[in-house]
Amino acid sequence: MSAKKSPPPGLYERLIPWRIRNRVTRWQQDRTCRRAFPLFQQDPDRALAAGSNLLSELVFGWGNTSFSAQTEYLERCMVEVAKSTGPILECGSGLSTLVLGTVAQRNNLKMWSFENSPEWALRVRTQLEKYGITSVKVCDTPLRSYGEYNWYDSSGESLPNDFGLVICDGPPAQTPGGRYGMYPQVKGRLRPDCKIMVDDADREQEREICARWKQENGGRFEIFGETKRFIVFDCGSQG
Ligand SMILES: C[S@@+](CC[C@H](N)C(=O)[O-])C[C@H]1O[C@@H](n2cnc3c(N)ncnc32)[C@H](O)[C@@H]1O
Repeated sequence: MSAKKSPPPGLYERLIPWRIRNRVTRWQQDRTCRRAFPLFQQDPDRALAAGSNLLSELVFGWGNTSFSAQTEYLERCMVEVAKSTGPILECGSGLSTLVLGTVAQRNNLKMWSFENSPEWALRVRTQLEKYGITSVKVCDTPLRSYGEYNWYDSSGESLPNDFGLVICDGPPAQTPGGRYGMYPQVKGRLRPDCKIMVDDADREQEREICARWKQENGGRFEIFGETKRFIVFDCGSQG
C-alpha cells in the first residue's frame, strides 16, 4: 500500500518562513476581530441574517479554530440564549463566552462559565473586559474526580438554582467521563424545562452521553448541524 503524499507546498509556503506566515495570520485575525466584534455588539441579530459572515469572521478572528465553537452551534446557542427562561451555565469558555455573553447582556441574563484552565480563564476574562461584557462570571473550577468521571469543582462558587440553559462545550474531550458529569453534578440547579446545547456531536462519546442522560433522567435530544454537528437536549420533553 503506498503512503498518502501531502500536496506540495505552494509558492507562498515555500518562499515565506512559517514564523512570518503565522505573524501575518495573527495580524489578519486581530484586524478581523477589531472590525467584526464591535459590529456584532451593535446588533447581534445581524449575525443571524441570511448570508451574514459575521460569525465566521469572529471564529477566524478568535484564532482557536480546532477548539472554539463554530458558526452553526453559535447561531443556535444565540437563539436559545435569547429565549432562555433563566440564567445560563457554560461549561468550557472561549469565543462562545464572548458571543453568548453579549446576547445574555442584551437580554438581562447572567451567565456562569466553568473553566478548568486558569490561563485560559484569564484570556477569556481579559477579552470580556475589553469588550465591556459584564453579564458573565468566568469561574476558576479545576477538574476533580467524582469516581466514575471527572467534572469541574464548583464548590467555591455561589450558583443559581434555576439555570434555563446549559452550553456544554467542555471539559476537554480527554477528561475521564467527558461531559457526562454535567447532569449528575448540576441536575439540582436546572429548571425542569432547561435546554442543554452539547457541541461535538460528530463524536460518538457525546451522542452516548446524551443517550445515557436521557435514560437516567428523561428528556429528549436531537442532532443538528451540517458542517459540524451539535445536540440540543431538552430536559422538559419526553420521547
Ligand atoms: C472545546 S473548548 C471550549 C471552547 C469554547 N466554548 C469556545 O467557543 O471557544 C474546551 C476547553 O478546552 C480548553 N482549550 C481551549 N483552547 C485550547 C487550546 N488551543 N489548546 C488546548 N486546550 C484548549 C479550555 O480549557 C476549554 O475550556
